[in-house]
Amino acid sequence: MGDNVILVGFMGAGKSSVGRLLARHLGRCFVETDDMITAREGRSIPEIFAERGEAHFRALEDETVRLLALKSGDVIATGGGLYCREGRPAALKALGTVVWLAGEFDALYERARRAGERPMLAGRSRDEVEALYRAREPYYRQADLVVDTIGIGPDQVAQEVLRALRERLAPSPLARGRAEGAR
Ligand code: S3P
Repeated sequence: MGDNVILVGFMGAGKSSVGRLLARHLGRCFVETDDMITAREGRSIPEIFAERGEAHFRALEDETVRLLALKSGDVIATGGGLYCREGRPAALKALGTVVWLAGEFDALYERARRAGERPMLAGRSRDEVEALYRAREPYYRQADLVVDTIGIGPDQVAQEVLRALRERLAPSPLARGRAEGAR
């Protein structure tokens, strides 16, 4: 398994801000799949959606996943839809530890609407966005670790991620006992 830390989750989960903080704490490089796409294309994500459509953007995500195989030791924040396709959970887990930044739909939706231009929200009703979220949840659930973002800010979420990563590397005797008991 690779040694990257890969953040997944719906729009508004805070993947970028948490990822940046996490990278700083760990002394690692921070990479965003959306930035990789923007840099290669020379256009913003909204421009790519507007000029070439979602299918083209998803094809660029495919290419990006292939390029991620060259990374090691990085903190990687993924776009909200990148993890949610057949084969993606397995492909990304092979590159490192996948962490789902989870939250309640309403809070994620409000945060996503407030910050940044998001083509996947444009022209979609709240119910349609919720349907998208529900369809993606089964993918997010396949992450190696889940960290709850409900009611806490990026700093605290980053601390929780660090704690979860440490626990995964060296489980406390209590957690180990629990895991062994469950077998
Ligand atoms: C998308 C989420 C966006 C970006 C693109 C598509 C999605 O990233 O990749 O607009 O399908 O959910 P964020 O999750 O960082 O907003």
